[in-house]
Amino acid sequence: MQSTSASGDALHVAIIMDGNGRWAEARRLPRAAGHRAGVEAVRRVVSAAPALGIGTLSLYALSSDNLKRPREEVEALFDLIRAYLDDEAARCARRDVRLTFFGRRDRLPADLLDSLARAESRTEHGRTLHLRIAVDYSGRDTIVRAASNAPGSRRAFGRALARAMNERVPAPAVDLLVRTGGERRLSDFLLYECAYAELVFLDRPWPEFQATELAESVAEFHRRERRFGALTRHAAS
Ligand code: IPE
Ligand code: IPE
Ligand code: MG
Repeated sequence: MQSTSASGDALHVAIIMDGNGRWAEARRLPRAAGHRAGVEAVRRVVSAAPALGIGTLSLYALSSDNLKRPREEVEALFDLIRAYLDDEAARCARRDVRLTFFGRRDRLPADLLDSLARAESRTEHGRTLHLRIAVDYSGRDTIVRAASNAPGSRRAFGRALARAMNERVPAPAVDLLVRTGGERRLSDFLLYECAYAELVFLDRPWPEFQATELAESVAEFHRRERRFGALTRHAAS
């Protein structure tokens, strides 16, 4: 039998899109060229996701710690994210994809915030895929902010978590987390939501990531046996 999400619904796949800079440096290109090539890989996975049974796709575009990088690189990333949103929002709306973003909203440039808000409202009726993009996101800071609201149950804490990362639509727990680029760590992405996620680490740098590798990662997920701490299969509660 195939592995399913904890709720039995379409899968939530999270991706740490890593390796852009090293990909570019290996080609003697500026690091920003790696980020630009990475945008094409984003388009490929967004197109492929619905047919693979993925209902929620969370992409790590920029971590809070990434803001410590040189100003030039951070600005190139802001510009690329803005251009992606401006280019893709209409296409997402046509494909029934809902696009939301999560992370801090108080340190981003005004034009990027405008693009994010426009993309969210243009796509709010999308039901085929929920595409979530993490910008200035830190798992630890989100948990700390949510905990300071101290709700009593996991359900209430889930809502506090969504509020703490400025997300209007709470997402289910992550089923599968994929990281490209060779590192085997979470780097502060969705720490709470990945409690029982299956982890797949790939050496391939993000700009080279193909839809077939997403399909292989999902197939690997289905070969795993999820027990959620219990002894029988599919015993999630
Ligand atoms: C991931 O690629 C994208 C971001 C962190 C914004 P990197 O920029 O971390 O690429 P490497 O890890 O240096 O190759
Ligand atoms: C994680 O990658 C952040 C994103 C992919 C957006 P990093 O490159 O920032 O992580 P570390 O520094 O290798 O842990
Ligand atoms: Mg990296």
